[in-house]
Amino acid sequence: MQLLRPLLAAALLLLATLSDAHNITSILAKHPELSTFNHYLTLTHLAPEINGKTTITVCAVDNAAMSDLLSKHPSIYTVKNVLSLHVLLDYFGAKKLHQITNGTALAATMYQATGTAPGSAGFVNITDLHGGKVAFAPENNDGTLSSTFVKSVEEIPYNISVIQISKVLPSAAAEAPAPAPTQQNLTNIMSKHGCKVFADTLSAQPDALNTFNDNLDGGLTVFCPLDDAFKAFLPKFKNLTKSGKAALLEFHAVPVYQSKATLKSNNGLQNTLATDGANKFDFTVQNDGEDVTLKTKLTTAKITDTLIDEQPLAIFAINKVLQPKELFKGEAEAPAPAPEPSAADAPAPAKKGKKKKKAADAPADDSDAPADSPDDAADVTADDSNDAVRRNGGRYGGGVVALVLSLVFGLPLML
Ligand SMILES: *[C@@H]1O[C@H](CO)[C@@H](O)[C@H](O)[C@H]1NC(C)=O
Ligand SMILES: *[C@@H]1O[C@H](CO)[C@@H](O)[C@H](O)[C@H]1NC(C)=O
Ligand SMILES: *[C@@H]1O[C@H](CO)[C@@H](O)[C@H](O)[C@H]1NC(C)=O
Ligand SMILES: *[C@@H]1O[C@H](CO)[C@@H](O)[C@H](O)[C@H]1NC(C)=O
Ligand SMILES: *[C@@H]1O[C@H](CO)[C@@H](O)[C@H](O)[C@H]1NC(C)=O
Ligand SMILES: *[C@@H]1O[C@H](CO)[C@@H](O)[C@H](O)[C@H]1NC(C)=O
Repeated sequence: MQLLRPLLAAALLLLATLSDAHNITSILAKHPELSTFNHYLTLTHLAPEINGKTTITVCAVDNAAMSDLLSKHPSIYTVKNVLSLHVLLDYFGAKKLHQITNGTALAATMYQATGTAPGSAGFVNITDLHGGKVAFAPENNDGTLSSTFVKSVEEIPYNISVIQISKVLPSAAAEAPAPAPTQQNLTNIMSKHGCKVFADTLSAQPDALNTFNDNLDGGLTVFCPLDDAFKAFLPKFKNLTKSGKAALLEFHAVPVYQSKATLKSNNGLQNTLATDGANKFDFTVQNDGEDVTLKTKLTTAKITDTLIDEQPLAIFAINKVLQPKELFKGEAEAPAPAPEPSAADAPAPAKKGKKKKKAADAPADDSDAPADSPDDAADVTADDSNDAVRRNGGRYGGGVVALVLSLVFGLPLML
């Protein structure tokens, strides 16, 4: 019992601190002079993003400074860009600001993290000036340091520092009319962030590209394979029929907007743009520690990056090409060299008489997708040759959950 007591205390403390995350809206609510800034953090949906991050600094401006910005009648998307430039992705308390090493530093901002900031426009230059002043300017602001530190609003060490600065950071890039997410150029965003091969391939398939664009209004989540992965997959892709190519591309998007947090909390099957009646074309979303993975019978891909996340559009980079069983199951089952003309394209191949031995196929996978091979080979083997292996995997997972639950809820009973 004496051993368990500290454990219980630790568990309770954990529960208490989990509910203790900062709330930028309520922090700023104590300062009426910052109410417009606060209001727009809510309108632009930046507030929950800020609440979800730690080690950040919010540079608030007073109502007069916000009036200057709003007098230009920017769209809400433009305001979002401008305000996201005011959220530094590092913790700067008043003390640290006044004691910057070498007197100057660059801080990446949430604007940088949106992926829409050109060049270095998403960085803020912080410079200690004579007489204890601290100046702020966007990095590409021709050296003019126009905004200065006014006061510390609230500091929760290492989690969030809220400060007031004298003026809105002037940024032509952030203030440029921002397209509504539904007017975004999907292929452009993907190309710029490591998914150029996928984007180019999509551009070359107008039917698939149109399917993507048609879903922008209603909500769209895209999972684009990084260049290395898609390049390695190209030989296989080129083998597909026209409709197979479109289906493979459409398999990489879901007709619903989902943030990474939503994906994490909604594990399970997801239909895709390729889903069409009997052709399921679905995959499974599953957490793997802090990671989110997407699984088909043939592939397990991991989300590696967020390219854009602005309702109703989210684009995530993944480290592998998702191979739907509807397109590749037949191929995986035929001996690699067998010249079955369209095995790769046949949707839902017959399962009867399938070969149990997969070893022969794995080397073929190796040759066009070295990065994929170990997992793929393992998946194929587990899945096709022995379903029990997979089920055992599931049961093991359940056991861990049960263990955790019994630890958390069992402890009080034992005391
Ligand atoms: C800092 O954030 C972490 C994670 O959200 C939280 O557990 C912790 O309680 C916070 N610290 C303070 C002082 O609020
Ligand atoms: C943050 O605080 C505001 C106002 O105090 C409240 O309306 C909102 O629900 C809070 N948000 C969260 C996530 O607790
Ligand atoms: C500070 O300046 C020195 C000398 O110029 C340099 O070596 C060092 O890397 C700088 N430190 C930082 C944090 O920029
Ligand atoms: C910040 O801007 C000032 C003024 O243009 C410049 O002297 C300084 O080198 C810049 N700091 C960094 C880290 O780029
Ligand atoms: C999207 O951007 C690409 C260049 O990256 C361009 O070729 C294409 O025309 C653009 N599409 C639209 C709909 O603007
Ligand atoms: C493409 O299809 C042919 C004929 O089915 C097959 O021999 C070849 O291995 C396939 N190539 C790839 C990369 O899948």
